[in-house]
Amino acid sequence: MMRTRPLKVALLGCGVVGSEVARIMTTHADDLAARIGAPVELAGVAVRRPSKVREGIDPALITTDATALVKRGDIDVVVEVIGGIEPARTLITAAFEHGASVVSANKALLAEDGATLYAAAERHGRDLYFEAAVAGAIPLIRPLRESLAGDKVNRVLGIVNGTTNFILDRMDTAGSGYSEALDEATALGYAEADPTADVEGFDAAAKAAILAGIAFHTRVRLDDVHREGITEVTSADLASAKRMGCTVKLLAICERAADGRSVTARVHPAMIPLSHPLASVREAYNAVFVEAEAAGQLMFYGPGAGGSPTASAVLGDLVAVCRNKLNEATGPGESAYTQLPVSPMGEVVTRYHISLDVADKPGVLAQVATVFAEHGVSIDTVRQKGRQDGNGEAALVVVTHRAPDAALSGTVEALRKLDTVRGVASIMRVEGE
Ligand code: HSE
Repeated sequence: MMRTRPLKVALLGCGVVGSEVARIMTTHADDLAARIGAPVELAGVAVRRPSKVREGIDPALITTDATALVKRGDIDVVVEVIGGIEPARTLITAAFEHGASVVSANKALLAEDGATLYAAAERHGRDLYFEAAVAGAIPLIRPLRESLAGDKVNRVLGIVNGTTNFILDRMDTAGSGYSEALDEATALGYAEADPTADVEGFDAAAKAAILAGIAFHTRVRLDDVHREGITEVTSADLASAKRMGCTVKLLAICERAADGRSVTARVHPAMIPLSHPLASVREAYNAVFVEAEAAGQLMFYGPGAGGSPTASAVLGDLVAVCRNKLNEATGPGESAYTQLPVSPMGEVVTRYHISLDVADKPGVLAQVATVFAEHGVSIDTVRQKGRQDGNGEAALVVVTHRAPDAALSGTVEALRKLDTVRGVASIMRVEGE
């Protein structure tokens, strides 16, 4: 039976994503109503610049007073697509207090203070859904929160930032330098005018925190995530990776420790073998591998950003939240019962690719190998090439077996102190083997 009284939706933000949400709500109104069991009506749109022309949106719905909109009392669902910590946190909390459920795309806020939002939702018996916060259109939050709720997830490994994937892809396939590839990403609208959040890994780290928390049923905050961006990745790194049959990707990696007593979450550039499915994720696409005990390996792939893909995820949540509302039910809330601590990066165990500039004379290789041995880091392969210019230097590339990150850091620190090591050109982790 279709309910005739519409469910009222308040939209906070009408930029690239918000305007698409409004457009789809209007153009697909009948389908949405049929799927939900009641019509959904856009009841207000809070914006910063009211004078901007917004095609397809009744100007009477536009307001600059987001606080008054969420406190109206007749709003069923607040869709928050303004981003940032404040005023989003205060508005979302007020929405719950005034009887609305919330659909949010706000990765920064969820990673920084998801616990406050979950608690407010629970206190008021409302829903907090946020599929759009991680990897745009790709269904990932719901599969983790619901489809895999009966399984045990041990690892989440993925490319969750499209801008950096585009840049690294260009560096790999077109041989571009970092700045050139960044310029191209900016010209195509992937990178923001200030690309810091993407290229320094903040965006991916927020997504890693959200994924790790849900996957391992514990609380993981942005500060718990080890973060390195791609600004130091060079064409030489890509060339080195190619020689090893690898490419370089900015990866978000969330893992349960082997003893099951802790978890780790990290974002950094890493070499992955070309045979790994993530190596073929090109351009600005995202892809996430989930490894679960019973399910095995699952891969989720698709557009991780952009107005329409992100709006698709928002609309999916909107339908779910509206259905819950009609059924006087709520969907899943926070699940942090395992209370697993997040271990520091030093405890992460992985492989490393290290490029050194060394003096090309007898005994240097042995000296370098000794430093690795003294720190308990076992060497897998070594490649040395004397420089053609005859300056008495050689490029030494060492690939290690798996070792704790702290042991590798100690090794590099000691290597830097050797007179015969002229420089550490790059250190990159090797993943996905
Ligand atoms: N800027 C992000 C990306 C999309 O490039 O993937 C929003 O999280």
